[in-house]
Amino acid sequence: MILAVPASPDLFAARLYMKSPEANDRIAWNQGPPADCSDSEESGKPPWRLVLMGPPGAGKGTQAELLHQYLGACHLSTGDLLRSAASHPNCVQSPAMKAAQDLMSHGGLVPDSIVWDMVRERSACLRCPGGFLLDGFPRTVGQAEALTALMREEKLPLTAVVNYELPLPEIISRLSSRRTCRDCQSVQHFSAENEICNHCGGSLYQRDDDHPEAIAVRLKVYQRETAPLIEYYERFGLLVPVDATSSAAHVCARTVAALQHRLQTIA
Ligand code: AP5
Repeated sequence: MILAVPASPDLFAARLYMKSPEANDRIAWNQGPPADCSDSEESGKPPWRLVLMGPPGAGKGTQAELLHQYLGACHLSTGDLLRSAASHPNCVQSPAMKAAQDLMSHGGLVPDSIVWDMVRERSACLRCPGGFLLDGFPRTVGQAEALTALMREEKLPLTAVVNYELPLPEIISRLSSRRTCRDCQSVQHFSAENEICNHCGGSLYQRDDDHPEAIAVRLKVYQRETAPLIEYYERFGLLVPVDATSSAAHVCARTVAALQHRLQTIA
């Protein structure tokens, strides 16, 4: 695998934003089987199979969208999946799904069994020749072990696990200012000058779990349940730490450079 890494992050950022986002409907992930994606043909290049880790608000979702433009792999988020399942008009509001929604809005984790059922049902997305960028999964050692077993069974090794690192005050600031567009679902930073969606002009809302009490719970849960995965993936030699401070484009440039470095190291 060869990655072109521009010497300057500014040049990288400019090139990134000049690329037009490719169609990536993620239907197979968002709707589950039997839905099929329209853009899962083989590109002839080895696929990127990445896990994106990091505390809440570190920018995993933002980076997944940028990396998708650069690497082509599909952005698969369990958080997006759970949120859309909860809000879908046809979603069967089973007691388990209602309990999951309640846990999410207060900052807790959804039980492994529910999350794993959803991921296993969509395991074709993990076998996709286009590769994947897993965002928000795995989040517990149990989920990581289940993923490792599945990838072994399918003989599909992970390329790397990117771990975004961000100081606590910046995490809190990013989460408290995050807003999502009701119409196009894009995620953006809220400010007095930016009260409507800067993509489509739609109205913005704040996620239930971005209120201060829920943020505090999420950070505790992250430390207890998810941070141990750093050591887990370090043991497999897969961990690629990335400094998540500075602009999203700069962080993306750093990620690509770190992935390139890893490829050269293991070649
Ligand atoms: P999920 O949606 O996965 O939330 P999360 O992991 O807490 O991560 P976030 O989406 O809050 O943040 P992010 O790192 O993606 O940052 P973003 O790019 O948005 O999960 C939500 C809930 O679902 C969980 O709490 C749990 O209940 C449940 N769940 C999901 N998966 C689960 C699982 N596997 N097991 C059990 N439960 C599960 O960026 C944040 C903000 O910062 C945005 O406003 C963005 O515009 C801004 N920003 C991003 N990058 C930069 C930058 N470089 N500079 C300035 N601002 C930036």
